[in-house]
Amino acid sequence: MGIKINQENKEFHLYNKEVSYIFRVLEKSYQLEQLYYGKRIRHRDSFSHLIEREVRPSCNMFEYDHTSSLEHIKQEYPSYGTTDYRYPAHMITNNIGSSITNFKYVRYEMEEGKKPLDGLPATYVEHQDEADTLRIILFDQVLQATLILSYTIYNHRNVITRHAKFVNEGNEAFFINNAMSASVDLPDDQYEMVHLNGAWAREGHIEAHKLTKGIQSIYSSRGASSHVHNPFLALKRLSATEDHGEVYGFSLVYSGNFLAQVEVDPYSVSRVLVGINPFQFTWRLNPTQSFQTPECVMVYSDQGLNGMSQTYHQLYRERLVRGFWRDRTRPILINNWEATYFDFDEEKVFGIAETAHQLGIELFVLDDGWFGKRDDDTSSLGDWFEDRKKLPNGIEGLSEKVDQLGMKFGLWFEPEMICKDTTLYEQHPDWLISTPNRRESHGRNQFVLDFSKSEVVEHIFQQMDTILEKSKISYIKWDMNRYITEAYSTSLDADQQGEMFHRYILGVYQLYEKLIEKYPNILFESCAGGGGRFDPGMLYYAPQTWTSDDTDAVERLKIQYGHSMVYPLNAIGSHVSTIPNHQVGRRTPIETRANVAYFGTFGYELDITKLTEEDQQKVKEQVAFFKANRHLLHTGDFYRLLNPFESNETAWMVVSQDQKEAIVGYYKVLAKPNEKYNRLKLNGLDPNKLYTVNGRNSSHYGDELMNIGILLNQDYTDRADEYWQRDHPKDYDSNLFILKEKTR
Ligand code: DGJ
Repeated sequence: MGIKINQENKEFHLYNKEVSYIFRVLEKSYQLEQLYYGKRIRHRDSFSHLIEREVRPSCNMFEYDHTSSLEHIKQEYPSYGTTDYRYPAHMITNNIGSSITNFKYVRYEMEEGKKPLDGLPATYVEHQDEADTLRIILFDQVLQATLILSYTIYNHRNVITRHAKFVNEGNEAFFINNAMSASVDLPDDQYEMVHLNGAWAREGHIEAHKLTKGIQSIYSSRGASSHVHNPFLALKRLSATEDHGEVYGFSLVYSGNFLAQVEVDPYSVSRVLVGINPFQFTWRLNPTQSFQTPECVMVYSDQGLNGMSQTYHQLYRERLVRGFWRDRTRPILINNWEATYFDFDEEKVFGIAETAHQLGIELFVLDDGWFGKRDDDTSSLGDWFEDRKKLPNGIEGLSEKVDQLGMKFGLWFEPEMICKDTTLYEQHPDWLISTPNRRESHGRNQFVLDFSKSEVVEHIFQQMDTILEKSKISYIKWDMNRYITEAYSTSLDADQQGEMFHRYILGVYQLYEKLIEKYPNILFESCAGGGGRFDPGMLYYAPQTWTSDDTDAVERLKIQYGHSMVYPLNAIGSHVSTIPNHQVGRRTPIETRANVAYFGTFGYELDITKLTEEDQQKVKEQVAFFKANRHLLHTGDFYRLLNPFESNETAWMVVSQDQKEAIVGYYKVLAKPNEKYNRLKLNGLDPNKLYTVNGRNSSHYGDELMNIGILLNQDYTDRADEYWQRDHPKDYDSNLFILKEKTR
């Protein structure tokens, strides 16, 4: 396992038990040619027999040579303008206005392990023998620039990570117009492109369509990864399913503007490009400076989409999320947002905390409205000091009281924002992102702070630090409720304005880093009007993300199912809220709301003091159930079973690593009368283990449960006389099946 190099032919083979990735140096031009990416193949001394050269009418790099057209050579990190006309992985403009580059192979470096990326989130290793890293160093003589392509292959995960770095070694600045994190030329186009699409309150909806000739892409130009697209795409073989067949996943560890694109050329080669969105991006690289791209995480699966997702889940849970909370049990929380909105005082929120505590809830989170004079959304963002009218004892006093209950306290911030009606704006009107002489567009009456300026980041840190130092705070919900408009930074030169979006997100990462350094035990939950910034970049700092402002159980089936493509359950923020639901007005049973929310971080978002005694009792039981099962739910393997985008039913399950336990969630949106016998086939169990289901007497082998399935109908065996009292089917119904190995 690891990396094998043929020095003479300059071939590189990255491999582990499941995956092979092979490329070589082109003999005359010294660019990099891709030979293979997919299922592990045996290592050979040379792979030169994989080289393909056809003579085609095209432009060629070398005179009298008709096979040196880069248009017909699969490449590692292509450029535009010297025989390849497809969309390139990089583009640089130099001081004479030329954007032709020619990075030639110089040497390689290889090492055990994986180094962190400067100032950027990335996956990591804990032990050097978990992964091997290869760096290919290339040089452009005219530009006097070095390009370093980094590849890491994990030994026991089907994962290869990639990123690129440019270094200006010359005496003149140049401009990077495009710098992708990864580029892969797959030899055919028989794939569906799978990705996550959405809008506010309906994030993470799965889209899949067959590749067509030309460019198909998803992207963000909003300053955040966005509700609209997630920085992820998968190419799935047309015949592949959730459990079988080939899938290539590409996930970008980045929270700003991104591009994920597939270009199918006339010869059916599919070029995948993933990285910072080149639209609205340029970076002036001065002499001696370097530019580092974010990391792209590539997963190969021959076990369908579930196989790909499980690889992402494990990697992101174990080697992207870091620090104190990575392996710790996540607290069950109650958040006051949908309970009170801005209308609360200490007594009201403490009452919620008290009742929640009695029912076993572990963390109370105070949401928006505790600072400045914020009784609605017209003011106060940026003035991070308590509204003493609402909280006479401040956050300090309230957090102390909650702590004395034996409960943890969490607080909401929206650090990147500013309202004009604030002391912050009075003092620093120039900190708001706007373009000189242009309108300043607002979103929810708020504007965005220029986080590309270090003094802004420092100031917000100081304000947050003041609150954190004096209070007992274990959790922060970090919100971001609007995208960036009129992007411009007064701290940047005219020819640097294309750096603004990237510098902004680097500023966000810096603030996270400063806070984590000083308060390593605080659990962060990221949020951007729900799931507007649910991406791997954020997970590096905030182990969980508020998935959507839509808390309706039926809507959540799609939202959580979609996000499970990439993200582990312990990252997916999920709460039980009130009925009628605040986003869609639907009335779902409290059991179903919990049965959906269990498959996430789990918590509540309602005025628990207003629940009937019967419902409070149910909450108590739900909390006890989740506590008993959260280890399994948050560390087990997740399987999607029935797809809510395709039918009235949804099902998913989690199987413990030792396959001794599993929990299945089954949901039926609309009731159907007098149904056929209906069985749900399970997955991931040990075929030879005997399992009990919901503690019943009968037991089933894993192979029976996976091949025949669980009976979903009511089972009236031996109780036919209950016919007239039987349960009638209801809308929004759901069931949990708890499987335990039967010890004989
Ligand atoms: C949007 C978030 O997604 C909500 O949960 C809540 O925190 C509001 N912002 C507060 O303004």
